Amino acid sequence: MNRRYLAVLAAVLAVGSLLAACATPPPEGPAAPSGSVEIFSWWTAGGEAEGLEAMYEVFAAEYPDVEIINATVAGGAGMEAKAVLATRMQAGDAPDSFQVHAGHELIDSWVVADKMEPVTFLFEENDWLDVYPPGVIEVLSSEDDIWSVPVNIHRSNVMWYNKQVFADNGLTPPASMDEFFDAADTLMAAGVTPLALGDSGVWVDLHLFESLLLAELGPDAYRGLWDGTTDWNGSGVTGALEAFAMAMEYVNTDHSALSWDQAAQLVVDGDAATTVMGDWAEGYFKSVGLTPDVEFGYAPSPGTAGSFIMLSDSFGLPKGAPNRDGAIAWLTVCGSKAGQDAFNPIKGSIPARTDGDRSLYDVYLQSAMDDFASNEIVPSLAHGAAASEGWVTAVGDAITLFVADLDVEAAQAAMAQACVDAGVCQ
Ligand code: GAL
Repeated sequence: MNRRYLAVLAAVLAVGSLLAACATPPPEGPAAPSGSVEIFSWWTAGGEAEGLEAMYEVFAAEYPDVEIINATVAGGAGMEAKAVLATRMQAGDAPDSFQVHAGHELIDSWVVADKMEPVTFLFEENDWLDVYPPGVIEVLSSEDDIWSVPVNIHRSNVMWYNKQVFADNGLTPPASMDEFFDAADTLMAAGVTPLALGDSGVWVDLHLFESLLLAELGPDAYRGLWDGTTDWNGSGVTGALEAFAMAMEYVNTDHSALSWDQAAQLVVDGDAATTVMGDWAEGYFKSVGLTPDVEFGYAPSPGTAGSFIMLSDSFGLPKGAPNRDGAIAWLTVCGSKAGQDAFNPIKGSIPARTDGDRSLYDVYLQSAMDDFASNEIVPSLAHGAAASEGWVTAVGDAITLFVADLDVEAAQAAMAQACVDAGVCQ
């Protein structure tokens, strides 16, 4: 793990670390679990649902006396699930364990609110402190405790493309946004949608936008957006918004009616050439029978080679989990090599542990492992790593308006204000 990565993770967590003061030590050690355990997530799409099922199978083999209740709320990036979860937690109706993004989403939303038990004891009992990168532990920590168990590392800034469509049009993956727009013109002339977008959930716009921000700003200035050292009123953000506005001329007309996986399906069908999506799209492509580097290709989203926008899915132990022992059993599987090596090759993510069995991972995922080890690591906005939920929502509101009116100036002003409101910018 390189020092830059540690530095960015430390910055991501700085606010949460200051605020989380209410840790109480957990009761020690699990008893033999039984009964049922409710696992709450948003993994219902192709790839992610099968990955979760594979981890359930590992659990069932190890804990045959515990029945899993698969409590999923459909909707990419957990937009709907997080709302349902918040209502349940408010009502004192916590599931036994729930999916949560590492970083601000975990710390600012749940740890600060004193809704979680620390899981440091699981890391100690299972010797996990030796098998997780220190930077990953840090992103899960505040106040000297660890607050959830990560199952994976995902990459946000990937451009997936239909290899046949590219070959038919004499294209290679564009390395910059300028090259992308050149390729897009060629594709338009051939009657193919250049960029598939499924932004029925605003997070998909945020997802595309974070890649455009990174392309415009580079990794250092992109990081600076989240600690107030990069000016939201500056030319980098203007350039990213202008690129976004231009990209909207090349997307499918029904984008606002589609989900991320329906957009991915346009690429599968050859109706669209590319989509910019996290590598859960790899899980989706494989779930419909495609093979990486055969039917579909992948490249860093244009202009972002050498940088890796990271996020991590994790599971936590809410206070008041009805079946605490069952939840601990689940978390033990989530953190195990067997659990991660069953889940991630199907999910389209790489293990959060450093000792995953590389031979189980396909050519794309091996390349992601290599990039994670060597690239500049920067946090995802759209998936809970870079900024607090309130800030993400405010940027999302600005993007929602922007998609409708493409008013760069107004969107940039709203985003600059969101940074001020988050208490990060002056
Ligand atoms: C992300 C999550 C991924 C994947 C994706 C689409 O937020 O981290 O695991 O599920 O949403 O639902």
